[in-house]
This record gives sequence, structure tokens and C-alpha cells, in this order.
Amino acid sequence: MPTSSNPEVYWTPPSVYAPNSLLPVLVYRNVVPADQGQDAIQKLIEANHWEKRGVWGHIAHAHYHSLTAECYAPISGSTKCLYGASKYDDESQGVRFEMKVGDIAVHPAGVAHCNLESTEDYRYFGLYPEGSSKADSVYTRLEGPQFAAKVNNARTCPIPEWDPIEGKNGPLPRIWREAAAKAAASDCAI
Ligand SMILES: [Fe+2]
Repeated sequence: MPTSSNPEVYWTPPSVYAPNSLLPVLVYRNVVPADQGQDAIQKLIEANHWEKRGVWGHIAHAHYHSLTAECYAPISGSTKCLYGASKYDDESQGVRFEMKVGDIAVHPAGVAHCNLESTEDYRYFGLYPEGSSKADSVYTRLEGPQFAAKVNNARTCPIPEWDPIEGKNGPLPRIWREAAAKAAASDCAI
């Protein structure tokens, strides 16, 4: 069973209209007991150098951020979400999973994400690696050089040094560095 040291791993390869990523989306379950409240969630993640920049709810329209990774930490309600498919991609694209209070999902720059269905009280904190760029939110269908620029941003976005739950020795930097090394090696082989 996945734990915070062993998060669920979801791959979102590039689609026609979303850069997505060669690094996986990581989902951590039950990192904070649901009854401990939003302060405990914020305290835990901010202690690991990810900063809260907003509180949002259900977002039905898929978007991506090309300049920063993002962590979603539900603070009330629950949701079914879709990662790895823009609004303009084929519906068969992407991965689906559920999130509730106590879970967190972290996605690398470029990965499209939205909510398919949420409880009315669904709210989450959006947290970002300290010092990372302000999130550019892309909701539109970009093509040609504009899209290529977003893909390039996402592929060159620095890997965070801190895991939002376990810090420097946590799974995120390790898993993402390994994935980046594998992607670079397969690029060289072509
Ligand atoms: Fe987002």
C-alpha cells in the first residue's frame, strides 16, 4: 500500500495540446489525519519549503502551468480529477483518481489538470516550491511556437529539492530526478 514514502505514481506523457511531463504525478494518501484541520496541512507542507499561494475549489476547465510544479492539498470535501489531458485532447487521454482531505497531489510543470466531479464543499490549498516562478495558467489551445515555448518551459523547469511531506530525503526529488535521467538517456539513444 502506498505511504507518504511510497506515493502513487501516475504518468502523463505529452498530448497534442498539453505539454504534460516525462516526470510522474505523485499522490500521497493520508499524510495528515482528516480531523487535524487545514492548519496542520499548511504547517506540514510549508515546513518543507512549499508555500501556500491560494485557496481554490472545483475547476472544471483543464489548465496547466509551464513555469512551476504545483501541489494540491484538499482542506474540505473530495473530488475526482483528471490529469494529463487538456480540454482539447481526446477524452481517452489522461489519468483519473480521487482526492480527499489528508491526501495531496503534486504535479510537475506542464501537466494539464482539472476536476471532473467534486463535492460542493471541495476546497484545496495550492502550494508551490519556495522561490519558484509565479504560475502561468494556460487554459487555451496553443499551437506552433507559442505551444513549443510552453513545452520548453515545462521541460526545463527545475526539479524541487524538497519533498512537500518528507523534505530533502523524501520521494519527490528522488523519483523526479530518476525519471529525468531516464528521459535524457532515451533522448540520447534516438
Ligand atoms: Fe493548477
